[in-house]
Amino acid sequence: MADKVQIAQDTWWVGANDYDTHRFEAIWPLPGGISYNSFLIKDEKTALIDAVKGAFLPGLLERIKALLGERPLDYVVVNHMEPDHSGALAVIRESFPDVVIVGNKKTANLLEAFFGITQRLKIVDDNEALNLGRHNLRFFLTPMVHWPETMMTFDELSGVLFSGDAFGGFGAVADGIFDDQVETSYFEREILRYFSNIIAKYGDFVNKAIVRVSQLPIKVVASTHGPIWRDRPGDIIDHYARWSRQETEPQLAVIYASMYGNTRRLAEAVASAASREGVKTVRVMDVSRMEPSFIISDMWTCRGLVLASPTYNTRLFPLMASMVDMLQNMKLKNRFLGLAGTYGWSKGALAALLEFAKITKLPLVAPTIEAHCAPTRQDLDQCDQLGREMARALTQPPNR
Ligand code: FEO
Repeated sequence: MADKVQIAQDTWWVGANDYDTHRFEAIWPLPGGISYNSFLIKDEKTALIDAVKGAFLPGLLERIKALLGERPLDYVVVNHMEPDHSGALAVIRESFPDVVIVGNKKTANLLEAFFGITQRLKIVDDNEALNLGRHNLRFFLTPMVHWPETMMTFDELSGVLFSGDAFGGFGAVADGIFDDQVETSYFEREILRYFSNIIAKYGDFVNKAIVRVSQLPIKVVASTHGPIWRDRPGDIIDHYARWSRQETEPQLAVIYASMYGNTRRLAEAVASAASREGVKTVRVMDVSRMEPSFIISDMWTCRGLVLASPTYNTRLFPLMASMVDMLQNMKLKNRFLGLAGTYGWSKGALAALLEFAKITKLPLVAPTIEAHCAPTRQDLDQCDQLGREMARALTQPPNR
């Protein structure tokens, strides 16, 4: 789907589907592509709400011009300055020299730093409105969803919430743009992956924003990525609310690294014991085989997290070190932690994992296991005990 699509009264999707970028932000895989949703409102005044990545500018301009004809574009509302949405702004300004760019004070700083744009700006404050004729756009500053300048725009006539990155997901909207036209289960997986990879660190800010916009009579949720939610807008808001509060389920994620299979034996022993004790969802994930993006997504709803790693050059195995660094940066809560390490000629892995436990303050389930080279019967019995204790812990609400 590459043409303009009407999403509400006087309002069209004019965005782009990106199947070429392999990794979003050069990190996160995009097997199903991604959309950059941009919207045009045609009223007495015309307004573009968010734009697209620079490479997709020609299609955006084509769609805008097809809708506007000889009319000028009066405003571009910039809900978010990350270049996947703002990359086309400089050329839009060249194409429509009189266009006024609408953002907040923090948007203005980034506009200058990224594109040298300092003129013809309209700086709006929280709860301020911009009237286009029939449509009245009201702005809500929602910092850190996902950058400091992020805001949301609510069209009081059509009930469309232009939410920026919030409520977005990976996956191009190729065959249909609305939630009632697409396979929602696919998008829900890709939305959780997007949320957990990109937005989760700012969960408290997301929650604050959700509490504010939940008061609005929202009919349509139009994020900058993924489907437009016109059939069940409440569903996507509820998903984001639960995920951002880190409402975990009695599920177990066992994330491990293993060079020669010894640490894998520890991971499997923990997983198998938890499963025997009745934990129905046990996800065993190898950092050497699975992309961090999918590991983070699959562990996000799990109340139990077990990390198992060998020592590599006196430290944590590098791919596990990277994984742990990502997890540490996500302000994890509402989870129980279990740890296992192995070592050969030098210890290191378990000490690093214990440091992770100290920093995150996640409640640690005993025992922690440290095996020398190949696990002994006693080591495996301890893993069995960790799996059983973890299964018991998962039935309890975690302390934090
Ligand atoms: Fe879709 Fe934070 O940019």
